[in-house]
Order: sequence, then C-alpha cells, then structure tokens
Amino acid sequence: MTQQLSTLHEGLRLADWTQSMKRSVLRDMIAVVSRPGILSLAGGLPAPELFPTDAFAQATSHVLTTHPRALQYAPPFPALKAHIVELMAQRDVPCAEGEVFITTGAQQGLDVLARLLLNPGGQVLIEETVYTGIQQVIAPFQPEILTVPTDLETGMDTGAVEALLREGARPAFIYVIPDAHNPLGVSLSREKRRHLVELARRYAVPLIEDDPYGFLCYEQRPEPPLRALDSEWVFYLGSFSKILAPAVRTGWMIAPEALIPKLTVVKEASDLETSAFMQRAVAAFLDTGQLPDHLAILRLEYGMRRDTMLRMLEEQFPPEARWTRPTSGMFVWVELAAGTDTAALLKRAVEEEQVAFIPGHAFAVQGRSHANHCLRLNFSNATPERIEEGIRRLARVIRSG
Ligand SMILES: Cc1ncc(COP(=O)(O)O)c(C=O)c1O
Repeated sequence: MTQQLSTLHEGLRLADWTQSMKRSVLRDMIAVVSRPGILSLAGGLPAPELFPTDAFAQATSHVLTTHPRALQYAPPFPALKAHIVELMAQRDVPCAEGEVFITTGAQQGLDVLARLLLNPGGQVLIEETVYTGIQQVIAPFQPEILTVPTDLETGMDTGAVEALLREGARPAFIYVIPDAHNPLGVSLSREKRRHLVELARRYAVPLIEDDPYGFLCYEQRPEPPLRALDSEWVFYLGSFSKILAPAVRTGWMIAPEALIPKLTVVKEASDLETSAFMQRAVAAFLDTGQLPDHLAILRLEYGMRRDTMLRMLEEQFPPEARWTRPTSGMFVWVELAAGTDTAALLKRAVEEEQVAFIPGHAFAVQGRSHANHCLRLNFSNATPERIEEGIRRLARVIRSG
C-alpha cells in the first residue's frame, strides 16, 4: 500500500523533495477499508448521525438572508473570534480577540506555523509515532527530524525532549498533541505539561499545541491546555471539525498578537482567507447557544462507544495485548504481541472478516518499524453494536493468525 506515484510524462520536473513522497498511506488504506460491507474501525471520522444538521441549516440560511455580503471576500469575522475567546475561557485559557487567528482547520494551522517557523533543512522535534498530517506538513522542508518516544499512560517523553535540548538541539518547534493523542489516545500528564512549557521557555523553543479533540472529554475535567500555562511560547490550534463538523473547515490558532500580521501573509499565500460564509455560519450556530448541549450529547455518546470498545477488548483480545484507555478523543491504540505484523493482519481482517483498522506503521515517523505490531482503532464513527461486532471479528482474526 506504499507504492510510489505512477510514472509521470517525460520532461516534467517536480521539486526535489517530492522524490521521497509516498502516496498518503492513510488515504489509500481508508479507501480500501471504506468499501461497502466493511465494518471499519479505521478512519478518524466523527459520527455523522450526531451532526447538528438542522441547527446548522438554520444558521446558514439565517446568514444568507441577513448578511447579503456573506458570500463576498471578507476579513476574519470578529463575532467568531469573540466566540472562540469564550470557548478558550472554558478550558482555562485566557486570551484576547487580537490573539485569535482563524484557520481553515487545524491542519492549515500546522501548515502556516511550519512555514512561519521552519527553515529548509531545519530541525523539528516530534514524537516517533504521530499524526500523519504533521509529517506531511514538514516533508517539503526536508527537515532534520528529532524524535522522542511516548508513554502510553502519561504521553510524550519530556525527559527525552530535555535530553535533546541539553545536548544542543534547537528545533524550530516541538509538536505536541496534549489531549487525546492521534493515534495513541493518551493525554499528557499535568507534570509533563509543566515540564514541557518550562523547557520551551528555558531553551526558547516554541511549542505547537495541536488540540482538535480537547473539548471531547469523557471523564473528570481535563487538564488545561499548555496555552493556559504560557502565552509566549505556545501556539495553540483548535478546530470545529470534531465538535461541529469537519466540512465546515474552520479552526483557530491562539498566537502572540504581534505575529498575527505575519501569519496573515503566510495564510494568504495558501487560501487568501477562510471562507467568510463558513465563518459567519459557524458564528451564527454558536449564537444560538446550542453548542454546550451538543457537546454534552457528543461526550455522552462517544463516552459510551469508548466504554463499549474497552469492554470488548478486555473480553475478546488475547491476554498479551495492551491498549490505551483514552479519557478523550476518538482513538484506542493497541499493542499486540511483539513480532505481529499488523499490516498483514489488516489484509486478513478485510478478506476474512470484513473488518478494518489502521496498522501502527502508518503513523511511524520515517517509516520506522517500532509500531509494526500496533494498530489504531476508532470508536467515534461506529455504533456500540457495530463496535461489539467489529472487535469480535478482529479478535477472531488475531486468534486464527
Ligand atoms: C491531531 C490532529 N491534528 C489536526 C487534524 C486536522 O483537523 P482539521 O479538520 O481541523 O484540519 C486532525 C484531524 O484528524 C488531527 O487528528
């Protein structure tokens, strides 16, 4: 599934960095496992039946009838920024509207920050098993990639981060997903949050805090984001993709106000601006005051789905398997017995039991093999009944291997 791009016509020259470009492994896999009849625990999709479709339809219709210029080019919408300031206050992050930068999703936030902070060939520090979107963003810079491991209960190994910095590493940024790590499902402990922020200050290295899942917490109040601990060295990325719908393609960054003009120029090069219409529609939805109830429904339903998945893993998976117990987000990370090849297992799972997951190697930085015996399961996009059935099928494939 990692085949190279098919041959291009003669004479067409692509940028050097594309030589090492692989097809998007994740998209290829998702295409295979989304075939009709496959019970997929693979993708990272929210539950479509929980989208607030009616309320959003009303919001969009309201925008179109009351703001004739909503379909025009326009500067960032101040009312949306005001809502974001309120949302961040709920997470104990004090910020001002002047520090809010609207993005076309958290993914664009990553792209804009990489272009702002990273020189070609520069250093970056990321975890060795991490969201593929950050790996794709940094690839064109052909950076020196420094990696650290992640503890499955407490998150990123900040001791390893400190060791690298002490030895002289000066990455352009440290990328971290403190809440509901994708793909590992773990959240960073309070001590490690403090440690990371302290390191960022001591060594003058910015932190990119990627937080699309932080509002989806199923247990006690989550730890405040890193941005609650520091407003100078932390670039916070939030998103409406998982709390409203991915297709609104609207997210935000909280960044030092002095950098907003530069961020604006960098973003303009990629999409001029985030759809003015979508910004107004999201703001109109938030104006109705329905987000807290909607979030409560998501937390309840996804919490039940997570519990179902964890219970089924306990009942069905072999005793040597280990998995994370996420307090938020959408993913459980499973480690099978050492030596298991989960890419081969996926093939059998799809053929023999029509069930799918994402093999761990898809998230391994620079194609390394440390996660070859691991897999990522999604619990947000399947009903509890489908999750029960999916884990039963998967356990049969593992046992018969
Ligand atoms: C860790 C992480 N960051 C960023 C994104 C992209 O989010 P958005 O839809 O806001 O661009 C995702 C999406 O799955 C993600 O898992």
